[in-house]
Amino acid sequence: MQRKLGRGSVPPSSSNERPGLSRRRFLQSSAVTAGSTLLVGCSTRSQAEDWGVANIPSHAGRYALVTGGNGYPIGDISGLGYHTALQLARAGADVTIASRKADRGAEAARLIREAAPDSEVRFEQFDLTDLASVNAFTERMTSEGRPIDMLVNNAGVMGRLSMELSVDGHERVFATNTLGHFAMTGQLMPLMRDGPETRVVWVSSSRAAREPLDFETMRLPDPYDYGAAYNYTKLAAMELAIEMERRSRAAGWAITSVAAHPGVARTHLIPDGPGPNSMEGRRLRTMGAMFPPAEEGAVPLLFATTWPEAQGGHYYGPTGGPMRSGPPGENDMREAALDPEASAALWTWLEELSGVKYG
Ligand SMILES: NC(=O)c1ccc[n+]([C@@H]2O[C@H](COP(=O)([O-])OP(=O)(O)OC[C@H]3O[C@@H](n4cnc5c(N)ncnc54)[C@H](OP(=O)(O)O)[C@@H]3O)[C@@H](O)[C@H]2O)c1
Repeated sequence: MQRKLGRGSVPPSSSNERPGLSRRRFLQSSAVTAGSTLLVGCSTRSQAEDWGVANIPSHAGRYALVTGGNGYPIGDISGLGYHTALQLARAGADVTIASRKADRGAEAARLIREAAPDSEVRFEQFDLTDLASVNAFTERMTSEGRPIDMLVNNAGVMGRLSMELSVDGHERVFATNTLGHFAMTGQLMPLMRDGPETRVVWVSSSRAAREPLDFETMRLPDPYDYGAAYNYTKLAAMELAIEMERRSRAAGWAITSVAAHPGVARTHLIPDGPGPNSMEGRRLRTMGAMFPPAEEGAVPLLFATTWPEAQGGHYYGPTGGPMRSGPPGENDMREAALDPEASAALWTWLEELSGVKYG
């Protein structure tokens, strides 16, 4: 169930039996609290109706990194990261967008600079599927030493019809959406953990898997199912948001970690992924005109990134309406994401695979 945030129903934060919390919402708070002596605030019910990009407060002087921000509009499709970066820059933030295609990156950065001339905007080339490339990118970022105020882990792929492997030997969707972002975020910790306060947004999807993650199937699925591979990575994004928040609270990092999803949007995800003959491709061809544009899909991601009242370990997305749209607000995570042991196990496994430890 998804719902809008309504004003004036903040339940007491000192009780385990929190009036007004659904079982799932209670589990969501508990998932963050588990393993930590810190009490996590329960969900805030502040008004977010009618929230739009005009509500983004000034971000002058702040710095954002948006992975996958080079999807500037071509015809009627564009990328969610591009519109997220664009609006952050319009709000005054300096923004780095980072992904693989340098020509598209340069053009996206140019277009964003044109729309937000007071902001510093640049493109960094790197490949999330290649841990050496991730490492080189994060070394460039850390050697510059500029603290990151907002990190939007947005880049993502849906698999093609046949399985592809990364240079490190992992299924490509998992390597991009999960492992690469895990390694990158951990290596950027020196730019985030010491404050003043960094918001980390893990981009998930309403397609997130409902069943618990199976690690080996995730790394090397056999037989290959591109849809299931994608859905697993989106459940993992929820779990990583919760687990990073839990660790942040336990270690005293100045990081708030949340998950978000855009609903559905007309982007390059399907054309660049399973293509026109897949189930998703056919749907895009026949119903694509009804899909909201990426500009609209970016709104919940911007909400999760900039809304001052966002709660660590929580999940933000559209709250209803046709084609999974509507004003942004709090959403319920998958129940499978709310098992603290599962999230901790995923974290440990990713540490082992990537060789990256957060701290
Ligand atoms: N569109 C939807 O309806 C929808 C729904 C739910 C969730 N999402 C999520 O939203 C996020 C953005 O997707 P989108 O729909 O905007 O798709 P998109 O237009 O295809 O954008 C994906 C971005 O990821 C980058 N990327 C892909 N592989 C990469 C790699 N190996 N290393 C670095 N960057 C890489 C791409 O740039 P390069 O090609 O230059 O690398 C591109 O900028 C994804 O996480 C997706 O799962 C989308």
